[in-house]
Amino acid sequence: MKQRATKTIILAEGDPEQKRAEILNYFHQTFDIDEKLYDTLKYDDTFYLRADRLRHPLIFYFGHTATFFINKLTIARVIEQRINPSYESMFAVGVDEMSWDDLDERHYNWPTRQQVKAYRDQARELVDGLIRKLPLSLPITWESPWWGIMMGIEHERIHLETSSVLIRQLPIDQVVQLPDWEICLENRGAAGQPAAAGGRGEGGAGQAEEPSALWLGQRVR
Ligand SMILES: [Fe+2]
Repeated sequence: MKQRATKTIILAEGDPEQKRAEILNYFHQTFDIDEKLYDTLKYDDTFYLRADRLRHPLIFYFGHTATFFINKLTIARVIEQRINPSYESMFAVGVDEMSWDDLDERHYNWPTRQQVKAYRDQARELVDGLIRKLPLSLPITWESPWWGIMMGIEHERIHLETSSVLIRQLPIDQVVQLPDWEICLENRGAAGQPAAAGGRGEGGAGQAEEPSALWLGQRVR
């Protein structure tokens, strides 16, 4: 899938209108890739399986990456009206190995796959409108209304990895293999040992100094 070969946006420099177009494209590509990942789930019921006992079912993550935008933009007062307060609460908090996280499925009344997709469409439209209209000056720093948008995009991209792992943990008869998600034939050596030093986005030694690497310290759940 050509879409996967996107580069993290440099927030520190550039022409504002060119940057706006870049961010718009990056946002939609990320949203598209995320939705394509869930196309690998064979049945609607697959969305409600817990691939890992320490995680929510996948329907949570399908909603979570969209509600994250709305919650961040609400907190930052970039938007005044929520889309669906009940979803934005239900899909807000993930789980990890901590005992105080709520893993009791009886406490959740998950919506249907179609309902969550409809919500995603609304969130996409709202963020699209902001990217097209918000005044933009560079660099984008954490005081900027754009910060929540950029954080939402990178958060969604991080969840591509975590959701991929969860999908891989599902029973094989619950997933379908699609051309967009072919088996990787490359082997770049052991984890933690970068194959080449310094390349942007390669996990190389120079990455921490890149302005695009601002997200590395963000906690993702
Ligand atoms: Fe998250």
